[in-house]
Amino acid sequence: MGLNGTIRVPSDKSITHRAIMFGAVADGRTVVLKPLLGEDCRSTIEAVRRLGATVEELADELVITGVRTLEAATLDCGNSGTTMRLLTGLLAGYDGEFVLTGDASLSKRPMRRVTAPLRQMKAKIDGDHAPLRVTGGRLHGIDYTLPVASAQVKSAVLLAGLRATEETIVREPMLSRDHTERLLPLFGGNVTIGEENGVRLIRVMPSQLTGTAVTIPADPSSAAFLWAGAAIIANSRVTTTDVCLNETRIGFLRTLEKMGANVEIDRVRPLGEETVADVTVSTSDLHGVELSGAAIPHQIDELPLFALVASQASSPSVVRDAAELRVKETDRIVTVVTELRALGIDIHETEDGFIVNPSQVRGGRVMAHGDHRLSMMLQVAALLTEETVEIEGMEVSDVSYPHFRDDLQRLDREIE
Ligand code: S3P
Repeated sequence: MGLNGTIRVPSDKSITHRAIMFGAVADGRTVVLKPLLGEDCRSTIEAVRRLGATVEELADELVITGVRTLEAATLDCGNSGTTMRLLTGLLAGYDGEFVLTGDASLSKRPMRRVTAPLRQMKAKIDGDHAPLRVTGGRLHGIDYTLPVASAQVKSAVLLAGLRATEETIVREPMLSRDHTERLLPLFGGNVTIGEENGVRLIRVMPSQLTGTAVTIPADPSSAAFLWAGAAIIANSRVTTTDVCLNETRIGFLRTLEKMGANVEIDRVRPLGEETVADVTVSTSDLHGVELSGAAIPHQIDELPLFALVASQASSPSVVRDAAELRVKETDRIVTVVTELRALGIDIHETEDGFIVNPSQVRGGRVMAHGDHRLSMMLQVAALLTEETVEIEGMEVSDVSYPHFRDDLQRLDREIE
């Protein structure tokens, strides 16, 4: 039995977060069509409601009425790093006192990467870990070179820049996902992209946003689990429709192609500021690859899944330059290596990545560690063996992909 069928996976998490936040401070109404309503995005919805914005939930649509002055509030960001880091930047330039809290995992994640540049802009922020206390006020523009390839840090600085007294420049030596700079101009944000000595440069001028309509494409980071399953499970062929084909997001698809996977990309078409396509992956003979450098940010969220896929290839694979994995929802180098070893996979931890050898998956008891992407990767792994795989805390996949298990079972059953 393989995975077979056509599916539109849930909408993109990164773009949904941004559309909600921008709508919350824009003049007038913003309509978000096909939003992702997973737990992380719900944290953002609740946060902007507490700030005074109105968010109406209609069928497959959010209608947001923005506000120009924000209410002082305590905002629970739950498990969502994007909510906490982007809101910290957004709020720093608004009068009021805002406290941002998070769950146990989020409270351990580093926030200095956003508080440091924001303090350079003269933001008043207490704490370098959640809870953060932001006392909004007058901000100054800065010229900031990102020390880590991080879309969350880039976005926090750009959003603070909307409220600064002069221009803000962010220099990005390694390109990270670019949804913020694509979406802000749609809301009337004054953003321009340039290049200096091979370094990408984003300029933002102080701007008041205006409401607009945004249609969210399907999330390539969610589709990735089905592409992976289709590539490594015998007799499979899965089509995922309307997937965001932004090159900063589909590093994993490019990796599958490099490994020799059967990938078809059809109906490539624009959707607002993004490009979407239908992507079909079928059972493939894969060989190992080495991933490092600039390729890493474009598939950072898919590297746990890559570890599983690499174990089904005919030769070893290596991931380097991916120390960022250690500060995600879990230390994803440790959790991926530990849980995949428990299923019989020959994988070894390195300082900034891992080495995977061809292996056969066997049954066992594993843990999701409260990490949605680990849970989904393990659910795909379970399809590779006839033995029982027990996954403790599997329901955490709802953070980014509500009903993942149902979708997987539906595809798994189609040829029964
Ligand atoms: C995200 C950026 C990435 C990614 C996260 C979502 C975003 O984090 O891992 O899942 O929406 O900006 P970093 O920017 O910290 O790399």
